[in-house]
Amino acid sequence: MKDVIIALDFPSRGEVMDFLGCFGDRKPYVKIGMELFYAEGPEIIKDIKATGSKIFLDLKLHDIPNTVKRSMSVLSSLGVDMCNLHAAGGSEMMRAAIEGLSSGNGKRPLLLAVTMLTSTSEERMKNELLIDRGMEETVLSYAKNARNSGLDGVVCSPLEAAAVKRECGSGFLTVTPGIRFADGEKGDQVRVTTPERAAKLGSDFIVVGRAVTGAADPSAAYNRCIKEFIG
Ligand code: C5P
Repeated sequence: MKDVIIALDFPSRGEVMDFLGCFGDRKPYVKIGMELFYAEGPEIIKDIKATGSKIFLDLKLHDIPNTVKRSMSVLSSLGVDMCNLHAAGGSEMMRAAIEGLSSGNGKRPLLLAVTMLTSTSEERMKNELLIDRGMEETVLSYAKNARNSGLDGVVCSPLEAAAVKRECGSGFLTVTPGIRFADGEKGDQVRVTTPERAAKLGSDFIVVGRAVTGAADPSAAYNRCIKEFIG
């Protein structure tokens, strides 16, 4: 079940297809985020599915329950494997999302809740979001709401994965961005760790963007992630 998901944070189909060409016969699990989806539309999902890769569609929905339900029903019909929303939207929105995703005939995609973005520090959470509980308490409370609303797991920092598992059960998935090699750049991420440590902390999936997409040899960087994370 453990896997490495590559964040395809590219602006166009051409760049994505060139990038995926680096992997030969390997079909890495990939994440399509807002940039690519807004640039290319749902067609990009079909094109990437046709290559054989699994897809995490990372659009982080957050709206009134009815809108989220109807939108999730559309996303489910695209045949993605995983999608997400913001836990901050609340439990009614999350339950509506599950209903929307389950409206088709086939197997529904996994649904994850974003707890707190890995670029958010506790200081910013307090000063700008006016949340004066600690980061871990907030993340765990959002994770419990997600589990109680029927979601499959959360997107969180690897540094919070072990606590989420303790609180919500080992079967509740943790998908963790904020991954950097020990010798890499942090960029705009705040709560980061290495693939190896993410595995020790209990991540089920790591999401790796720039450490692979920005590498001189993306295939070698991906192999390094797999080796450090899965062994
Ligand atoms: O390049 P980098 O490895 O930082 O990319 C991380 C990816 O994971 C980006 O696509 C970002 O949008 C996404 N993500 C995140 N933090 C979250 C949820 C998603 O960094 N909490």
